[in-house]
Amino acid sequence: MSFQEKIEAVRTEFRAALDSFPNKPQEIEELKSTFLGRKGKVASLFAQMGSVDPSERPNIGKLLNQVRNDLTELFENKRTLGASNVGQKQQETIDYSLPGHQFRIGSLHPLQQTMDEIKTIFRDIGFSIAYGPEIDDDYHNFQALNIPKHHPARDMQDTFFIEDNVVLRTHTSNVQIHLMENQDPPLRYIVPGRVYRNEAISFKSYCLFHQVEGLFVDKHVSFTELKSTLTYFIHRMFGRDTKVRFRPSFFPFTEPSAEVDLWNEERGQWMEILGCGMVDPAVFESVGYDPEVWQGYAFGMGVERMAMLKYKIDDIRLFYQNDVRFLEQF
Ligand code: PHE
Repeated sequence: MSFQEKIEAVRTEFRAALDSFPNKPQEIEELKSTFLGRKGKVASLFAQMGSVDPSERPNIGKLLNQVRNDLTELFENKRTLGASNVGQKQQETIDYSLPGHQFRIGSLHPLQQTMDEIKTIFRDIGFSIAYGPEIDDDYHNFQALNIPKHHPARDMQDTFFIEDNVVLRTHTSNVQIHLMENQDPPLRYIVPGRVYRNEAISFKSYCLFHQVEGLFVDKHVSFTELKSTLTYFIHRMFGRDTKVRFRPSFFPFTEPSAEVDLWNEERGQWMEILGCGMVDPAVFESVGYDPEVWQGYAFGMGVERMAMLKYKIDDIRLFYQNDVRFLEQF
């Protein structure tokens, strides 16, 4: 091994030792003295200068000085870097003063919020909540509600048929029939759910939407009670200043019937939000309730329409596009 090679070997050895730089002050001092100390490896190289050919000495001397300076510098750098970690098991590089990760929190869909609010208000005044099938037979969606086959009233609701006698329900009124088939009066329910209509899609109509049905059956039920219940609901939902109007209308399953409009300030026009009326005796007959004994009222409200009014949304299609820029506003 030439003298130059010996020098390089010490340099290499020193670098390896630095890679596993110790933490304990005592070990650090040991490392320093092994290489750079009075009896260390570099010193011993200097001591061997005597055996070097005199003509080589100036060169080797220069090289040795350089190595000593290099190693000293490397050592000092490493020591100042490590100083802050002395006594720790690991050299951590976490900066605890940085702000933490932001987790994005989701929000309830505006339709869900509207539904929840409707449910709360009706629960407060004694209504229970029921659900029913979205795929139903023609009988429950139409016939039992006094809409016979080929009756012109079927045109009011463009129906999606699955089979001849099976439909996607066009309203939540089908659940009126299920409820009355399955229990004796009196009863007082609201029924939230999805409904489907094969309608031309526009800012105010979509092929699916949500309704909340209401049904109250008892011995002395009046239209006045229906009107005051709905007015109470609207005042709580939209505020006492909301302009409301009850307008005479027609549904085969209620008599008399009405529709309720709210004034839409943005559009400067009335917006229909629900249909209602006194349960038609023909409906009681189809579920086996005696129409001489029992009376009732029913209503069905459009949830999208109400959410649009409440949150000033001008297009029903926005509810179904799942655009986060829209959803995160609620
Ligand atoms: N089912 C009717 C509709 O979807 C609303 C309604 C329900 C009307 C109950 C009267 C009574 O338009």
